[in-house]
Amino acid sequence: MLQTELAGVKLSNPTILASGIMGVSGASLSLIAKNGAGAVTSKSVSLEPRKGHPNPVIVTYAQGMMNAVGLSNAGIKDALPEIGYAVKNAGVPVIASVVEFKAENFGPLAKEISKANPAIIELNLSCPNVNDEFGKPFSHDPAAAEWATRAAKRNTRIPVFVKLSPNTPDLIEVARAVKSAGADGITAINTVGPGMQIDIFARRPILSNKCGGVSGPAIKPIAVKCIYDIYKETKLPIIGTGGVTTGADAIEFIMAGASAVAMGTGIYYRGLDIFAKVCKEMQEFMEKEGFSSIKEMRGIAHEG
Ligand SMILES: Cc1cc2nc3c(=O)[nH]c(=O)nc-3n(C[C@H](O)[C@H](O)[C@H](O)COP(=O)(O)O)c2cc1C
Repeated sequence: MLQTELAGVKLSNPTILASGIMGVSGASLSLIAKNGAGAVTSKSVSLEPRKGHPNPVIVTYAQGMMNAVGLSNAGIKDALPEIGYAVKNAGVPVIASVVEFKAENFGPLAKEISKANPAIIELNLSCPNVNDEFGKPFSHDPAAAEWATRAAKRNTRIPVFVKLSPNTPDLIEVARAVKSAGADGITAINTVGPGMQIDIFARRPILSNKCGGVSGPAIKPIAVKCIYDIYKETKLPIIGTGGVTTGADAIEFIMAGASAVAMGTGIYYRGLDIFAKVCKEMQEFMEKEGFSSIKEMRGIAHEG
């Protein structure tokens, strides 16, 4: 009943671990799979190691979370064995997320990450909290996004999904551009903002980077609209991401046009087994409402 497919990759259920949360080691990716996820995404990795921002890098508030981790990662050389471990042991498809700061570098990075044989490669073109160092994210510029996607596609046979940002008025142009460059699917969305929180007693911003990407329930309606628009424009497979914590949220994403639903911040609200919980809630809804497959619900909100 919950089976779904992403560019030929079969998932036993549509819940996925989003990139950046519990996704650094092969062991933690496998642990999330044991908690019911239909696929797991590794933390974005770049060709060279990156230190990221100093602490504090995460702060929560009533309806969400803000992070400015700054894409800290050990680099592709150290990430390959971890992703390889997850590919062998997780028992579900592994999505390997990659990030770079020059469009042409997505070529060699796609080639390297393919050595771990993930089911899907996800290009993170959309991290909002590194803007100051690197200029506009690729996902704000259709030409740059197209170039990065083409570079990756030329260097791998593994399906490539491109992760887009809600923080641009040109989302649809960018989606169109990555489709024309051969993207096999789109992940939407990355965090919103950036936003800022101020500690009123310390009288300064809480995050060391001052601002960070906003995730969690607060951003869900923005994600739904982005998924809806991207589906309408491209009909590509979509991994919907952004604020999902319940089965009802996941169903909403599917009805907007997603084929699967990734969750990150939701783990903070409902625990590691959020994946199994969301699946159970989706199933209950489907039985009650007379749906027998994800496919049947996908994009149904466009019919009204
Ligand atoms: C602490 C943290 C780290 C993240 N790191 C990454 C990352 O490395 N790569 C990426 O593509 N997205 C990253 N994200 C964004 C998430 O994958 C996701 O797109 C976003 O948080 C919205 O989904 P959510 O509300 O379910 O968390 C990160 C999010 C958080 C909260």
